[in-house]
Amino acid sequence: MNICILGGGRVGGTLAKRWASNGHAVSLVVRDKKNAKSLELVNTTTAILFDNSELAKAFGEAEVIVNALPWSEVEKMLKPFAESLAGKIILDATNPIKLGADEVKDGLLIGHTTSAGEQVKEFAPQAIVIKGLNTVGWEIMENPEIIPHQPVAFICGDDAGKTVVSNLISELGLKPCDVGSIKEARLTEPVGFFWIHLCFARQWGPEFVINPIIANPSGPISELAGI
Ligand SMILES: NC(=O)c1ccc[n+]([C@@H]2O[C@H](COP(=O)([O-])OP(=O)(O)OC[C@H]3O[C@@H](n4cnc5c(N)ncnc54)[C@H](OP(=O)(O)O)[C@@H]3O)[C@@H](O)[C@H]2O)c1
Repeated sequence: MNICILGGGRVGGTLAKRWASNGHAVSLVVRDKKNAKSLELVNTTTAILFDNSELAKAFGEAEVIVNALPWSEVEKMLKPFAESLAGKIILDATNPIKLGADEVKDGLLIGHTTSAGEQVKEFAPQAIVIKGLNTVGWEIMENPEIIPHQPVAFICGDDAGKTVVSNLISELGLKPCDVGSIKEARLTEPVGFFWIHLCFARQWGPEFVINPIIANPSGPISELAGI
């Protein structure tokens, strides 16, 4: 597939490497194509780099757009391009927090009445928006086999995009679990933040996942959850 990833950081860079090595045509939108991080991505993947002045071109060629930006950057990167994003699948991996030292301290910036996933749908109303990958640390996206149970990645959003996104998530070695509509991002974003709390504030580090464990692995709950 043609996948455009917004943000070449820990999440964006990891996803670019993994999907490019599976043969997908991956492009990455970065702020500076010439900085060391960008050049490293060029050297270690087949990903093509675009900068922010080339967003329309990057979106134009993509079937799936993965949002791996800090939440503070999302509106300005999507809203002006709402028309170009019509009919495209957006996989929104953000958690609506401040990145950096204050991320644990300040908590989720939105949550009770809306969510980052719902806001993304508002920024690009005609896009097919799926929330996902926000509950899994990038280290597990890179190396899922360190977890003895297959790591689950909760997804929610527009049904039309769920098969494509589930397939991409499965390719990473994660188990997609559909929990509903984009409104359910109000539930999965706190799960992402709970993971961050355990990882940083409780000093667990990143080598764990939050997985549902079902009593009867071949029973009805398992079928409903798809895991
Ligand atoms: N870290 C995790 O394990 C994890 C897991 C799940 C979800 N998430 C979510 O995924 C998102 C990315 O997290 P991350 O850990 O990958 O952060 P990160 O390592 O800080 O990467 C963010 C990237 O976005 C780039 N960026 C920032 N503003 C930009 C702009 N205006 N235009 C283009 N690129 C821009 C940054 O570029 P520069 O290098 O130029 O600053 C950086 O490469 C966040 O919303 C986070 O909550 C993170």
